[in-house]
Amino acid sequence: MDTYLETERLALRRFTADDADLLIELDSDPAVMRYLTGGNPTAPEVVRECYLPRILAGYEKWGGDLGLFAAYEKDGGAFIGWFHLHPEPEGPLDEAELGYRLRQAAWGKGYATEGSRALLGKAFTELGVRMVWAATMSVNHGSRNIMEKIEMTLADTVPTPSDMEMVEGSEHGGVRYEITKEQWKQQWRGCWHSGRYALGRQGCGHVVIPTGCAGRGRRLGRVRAAAGLAGPRWRPRS
Ligand SMILES: CC(C)(COP(=O)(O)OP(=O)(O)OC[C@H]1O[C@@H](n2cnc3c(N)ncnc32)[C@H](O)[C@@H]1OP(=O)(O)O)[C@@H](O)C(=O)NCCC(=O)NCCS
Repeated sequence: MDTYLETERLALRRFTADDADLLIELDSDPAVMRYLTGGNPTAPEVVRECYLPRILAGYEKWGGDLGLFAAYEKDGGAFIGWFHLHPEPEGPLDEAELGYRLRQAAWGKGYATEGSRALLGKAFTELGVRMVWAATMSVNHGSRNIMEKIEMTLADTVPTPSDMEMVEGSEHGGVRYEITKEQWKQQWRGCWHSGRYALGRQGCGHVVIPTGCAGRGRRLGRVRAAAGLAGPRWRPRS
């Protein structure tokens, strides 16, 4: 697997031309599509002829760094859905939209939060992104919950797109959340090591990082786990 990003429990990779069936199955669940189409599935030919070619074109456009990525459980290898991180079609490259769509079987496990948190880290440390935003229907509490858990801030309300007016709750409109690199750095304040992620996180009760760097390797595994990233970079000494 050509891994794009790894977290403690997930591996993200680029989709290929052979993956239409994964997308078709995901979009065939009315619960998954509830706040997107009102529960209607995406037609298989639309996935094959429109969605998948657009996803693959995105990798070309953004050099494989941004786009929509398939997510798998590392333990067992099950496909759980997808995450996206990419600019708007004509938007600036340093402003990226975050999104996620998971199979129902993968809900309630913290996967969406874990993947999103790791994508924020990658966006701000590796990809030159300055601001990440996400939008959803006001009534999509599951999606808003993730945005709030990764400490994005409610920035605005947005009108319901005309093609979503039949969706339950559309009369309440939508919401847009944002987080800038500066805000993210404040939350993940600390020292940087080997170009890797910041070690300390303000306001995170269960992770305590010393001001100096002595002993931080021992704690890094816990910090990386809290950040939703894969295992420790340094081995604990004992
Ligand atoms: C939106 C969506 C991704 C949210 O999925 P989710 O499973 O609720 O989100 P998470 O994976 O972060 O799971 C969070 C819940 O898992 C539970 N959980 C279990 N184990 C956990 C763990 N190890 N870590 C964190 N949370 C865990 C918690 O109860 C948590 O909920 P809480 O924070 O309210 O207590 C999912 O509902 C979905 O794919 N919906 C359809 C598509 C959609 O609407 N996408 C958004 C369009 S804008």
